[in-house]
Amino acid sequence: MKVKVVKDYEEMSQEAAYFLEDEVKNNPASKLGLATGGTPRGTYHHLVKGYRERGVDYSQVTTFNLDEYVNLPRNHEQSYHTFMEKHLFSHIPFHATYLPNGQAEDLEAECAAYEKLIETEGPPDVQLLGIGENGHIGFNEPGASFGSTTHIAELTDTTRQANARFFSSLEEVPKQAITMGISSILKSKKILLLVSGSAKEAAIERLLTGEVDEGFPASVLYRHADVTLIVDEDAYRKD
Ligand code: GLP
Repeated sequence: MKVKVVKDYEEMSQEAAYFLEDEVKNNPASKLGLATGGTPRGTYHHLVKGYRERGVDYSQVTTFNLDEYVNLPRNHEQSYHTFMEKHLFSHIPFHATYLPNGQAEDLEAECAAYEKLIETEGPPDVQLLGIGENGHIGFNEPGASFGSTTHIAELTDTTRQANARFFSSLEEVPKQAITMGISSILKSKKILLLVSGSAKEAAIERLLTGEVDEGFPASVLYRHADVTLIVDEDAYRKD
């Protein structure tokens, strides 16, 4: 794992955007795995800026998102469809953009179809990831099997509480999500993990012990050959 410590959220976001832009410049038909949450928002802001000011071309780029809440209407303001539309897709025209459908009638079939899509259209050249305070990646919560493919995940109380800040109340936060599994995520050729803020300090400390354990999902990244972690000083313990 390559570790790059940067000053703050802004620098992390700019560095991450340059990383993705370089990928697209080297391979105009790149496949990008995307994430949601507060962490990648700044990255998307810089990608949009790069598109507008430097004309980075995304017309052949295909994107795959990690996850989506179950049973939250697609146009709900906290759905990941809405998040991606608002922060990226309405600003940059991509060749194709994919997210799991959390409102599918047959959720199991949707999971299988999404996994198949990653195999046939993907895998991503770069997968962007954030991390939950409990070490979750996508919505793979502690205890998720490292062999898991796209599946329906039950969200833990801590994850629901962490995400409640975006909803009007905790009750509104969905209890389930469709998420790429750990093995789906590991299929990506490169992984770019972004971490910012003191709330993630304990997670980073745990990650950097290098101990690989299903109780801490992000630790599986040590089994991938090409992972870059960009972490800011608030999340990175200096002592
Ligand atoms: C959510 C998402 C994850 C994300 C995590 C951390 O649960 N499913 O993909 O990494 O939250 O979010 P944030 O970046 O807001 O801290």
